[in-house]
Amino acid sequence: MEAQNLLINYRWREDLLNDQEIKKNLQQGRNLVIIKDFPLDDEELETFISRLGIAVNEIRNNKGKAIFDVKIARLNNFFTSIANSNLEFPLHTDCADFDVIPNVIGLLCAEPADQNEGTSNFMFLHTLLDHLSQDEVQKLSEKKWKFRNRQRSILQIENRTYTICYDRITMESFSKLNPDEIEELNKLDALFKRFSFSIKLEKGDLILFRNDLLLHGRDKININSQRLLKRIRFSIDNFS
Ligand SMILES: [Fe+2]
Repeated sequence: MEAQNLLINYRWREDLLNDQEIKKNLQQGRNLVIIKDFPLDDEELETFISRLGIAVNEIRNNKGKAIFDVKIARLNNFFTSIANSNLEFPLHTDCADFDVIPNVIGLLCAEPADQNEGTSNFMFLHTLLDHLSQDEVQKLSEKKWKFRNRQRSILQIENRTYTICYDRITMESFSKLNPDEIEELNKLDALFKRFSFSIKLEKGDLILFRNDLLLHGRDKININSQRLLKRIRFSIDNFS
């Protein structure tokens, strides 16, 4: 699938960035937004995001800070999370087990992955919906799965718009799935992959995308990679 038509490109210029236009693009959720040459500065990133929405301070892994360093990190030889590993991260929703799931993710590429690895992958829910039958959509809207201590369906409908919540790792970590369910998720993963597209982030790229209307993931990276993404999750009001 061609990524270019799905991207709206800006270049960072302090006074000229049109926040309202960027926000509108995110509210419509039909594209990803990339801002090139964004300053590699946490404070600048936080200030900019505060003009679009309300950031989530991450209590679980990040000492309550809004900006999380996605890089290879180990504690006593174990990776501290999948984000902090070198493993492939299949297409998923962030914070699938949160009470309120933030609807936008920002990733600022401070250090890109080496060539041919660590590519970011995305899949738009609207592309998936174009290829599902009504029955399939209904099934995905009705069946609940366990996301840690929450029961959620993979598709939800809000104000006549579908949203998606999917994180297989969380779903499998907190419940024992039967063989039929595993088969169902295998099929879904294959479908998601089929409709996905890739973007290779460059240094200074800030990518913003809807967490409830797209799935995201990344390819494997080598264990010595210096790849560093600054992640910030936030919520925008959802009306255009
Ligand atoms: Fe993620």
